[in-house]
Amino acid sequence: MTNTLDAYCVMGNPVAHSRSPWIHARFAELTGQPLSYDRALVPLDGFADFVRDFAARGGKGCNVTVPFKLQAAELATSASERVRLAGAANTLVFSADGIHADNTDGLGIVADITRNAGVPITGRDVLLLGAGGAAAGSLGSLIEQQPHRIVVTNRTQAKAVALIEQHAAIAALHKVELVTLERQVLETDLAQNFDIVINATASSLAGADVPAPSSVLHARSLAYDMMYGPAAQNFLNWASSHGALARDGLGMLVEQAAESFALWRGVRPPSTQVLAELRALLLTEAAH
Ligand code: ATR
Repeated sequence: MTNTLDAYCVMGNPVAHSRSPWIHARFAELTGQPLSYDRALVPLDGFADFVRDFAARGGKGCNVTVPFKLQAAELATSASERVRLAGAANTLVFSADGIHADNTDGLGIVADITRNAGVPITGRDVLLLGAGGAAAGSLGSLIEQQPHRIVVTNRTQAKAVALIEQHAAIAALHKVELVTLERQVLETDLAQNFDIVINATASSLAGADVPAPSSVLHARSLAYDMMYGPAAQNFLNWASSHGALARDGLGMLVEQAAESFALWRGVRPPSTQVLAELRALLLTEAAH
């Protein structure tokens, strides 16, 4: 009998910045689950080999981050409906049956908005800024909450159209109005304001302005950036300065990790506590 720990990791490139090892180490401690969770810098042209090798060496599962989420979905032998909708996976589970892919990003943002921020999505009007991987990973889970309407807007309109077409069936199933509006319409039609505005664009990283007019906000809107730290600051400042409740994506990060952990271990970790601890840690680091 061996006493090696069940092994997990986060695979990405770059990956040095990832907080996932810290989060999963806390989950493991707090739930009494003996496991190891490392960072794996995977060569850009070597993802599939790396996954198979990790599984062959006894790895039980992994998280997948930029730029491998699409490849993870393709490589899996089975996948959840969420992966099929998003075309991307952030979680792999290895078993004797093969490699199962899931995507917990959408569950993560929904848990953070509804549970941690206490803002219901059901029946509300939602604006999703962006139509790239981050937006695609969350849209299905947002629809499942049965908001009244989700508007997707993106710099490249054709990508927003493709994204809503991909989700048309699930939106119809949940009776959600899913449409795209061009930026120009948002600028000119001041009746277009939203209860929840989610930034899934990389515009802050690019140093660009928030890709929406402030008229999309009303006094009780929740403005949510999927990023955290300096990358979210521009959007959060914009939202606060227009009177909205501003929230970064740190809770989404912890909640998607909690969903992955539950898939692997069958145990739900205390994500609210770990989120509070991580926020405190980041504040301490920022002060030094
Ligand atoms: P991610 O995986 O982070 O979503 P992505 O798939 O490259 O990355 O998507 C980036 C998103 O940010 C896209 O919606 C992109 O708009 P385009 O589809 O038009 O490229 C958006 N984005 C990036 N830079 C932007 C900017 N300066 N202004 C507005 N939107 C921007």
